[in-house]
Amino acid sequence: MNSPSSVEPPGLAFGWPDDKLRTQTDVFRLPGGESVMVRVISPQDADGLQAYMRNLSGLTRRNRFLGAVSELTPKELERLTHMGGPGELALIVFGRVGAETAMIAEAIQAIAPQSQRCEIALSVTDAWQRKGLGTLLLSHMECRARLLGARYLVGDVLRTNDAMKGLARKAGFAIRGPFKDARLIEIVKDLSSPPTGLPCREQFSAPQLIAA
Ligand SMILES: CC(C)(COP(=O)(O)OP(=O)(O)OC[C@H]1O[C@@H](n2cnc3c(N)ncnc32)[C@H](O)[C@@H]1OP(=O)(O)O)[C@@H](O)C(=O)NCCC(=O)NCCS
Repeated sequence: MNSPSSVEPPGLAFGWPDDKLRTQTDVFRLPGGESVMVRVISPQDADGLQAYMRNLSGLTRRNRFLGAVSELTPKELERLTHMGGPGELALIVFGRVGAETAMIAEAIQAIAPQSQRCEIALSVTDAWQRKGLGTLLLSHMECRARLLGARYLVGDVLRTNDAMKGLARKAGFAIRGPFKDARLIEIVKDLSSPPTGLPCREQFSAPQLIAA
């Protein structure tokens, strides 16, 4: 795949300051009616993120981390909760579970320096899978990647991960590989074509958002 070698400064492509991309909190309603809140992670979320990861099923964790993992290492926890560099973002999602509000999904994206490839990874906790949250997060990340000036949205996925392959295909990604690692395929979406559906700015403002 050809990747152009530079990326515009974050947010500037659409005149939207990077700070706004980092601090925005959005509330959405899933197709089944459940409300979910999406916001950027902060260092204070470390314990919550670790608890979220521990509560995932082994299969969901394996698919998320491309191998057997029981919890985040301190280094990885630090990295995920401090993703504040240029072109980096980590999102967490909360939903109502009984009377409580719980972390139910997470997603990260990162554009390496001098690259237009925005790498993504995400997970949805088992009980919330197949409710449209993965679709919402992918769409959210695609919009943010476009706003950050990325050309490609890419992710490494286990070849056996039918859920992610299905989600990616539905969201317009191509599936490539395996390349170096026979266990993995790459999902790729070329963002040079205009987004389908609502433009990003409209997608993340009323009327699709609902009150918190
Ligand atoms: C992949 C994942 C994020 C999907 O999230 P989700 O919230 O369940 O996805 P959605 O509900 O938006 O599903 C959208 C589409 O994806 C496909 N899909 C989702 N789960 C599927 C499954 N278990 N089997 C086959 N297709 C599946 C379907 O086409 C689905 O559309 P449909 O429900 O109308 O048939 C979730 O299964 C997950 O967290 N998996 C573990 C982590 C992971 O694999 N991360 C990716 C690598 S980093």
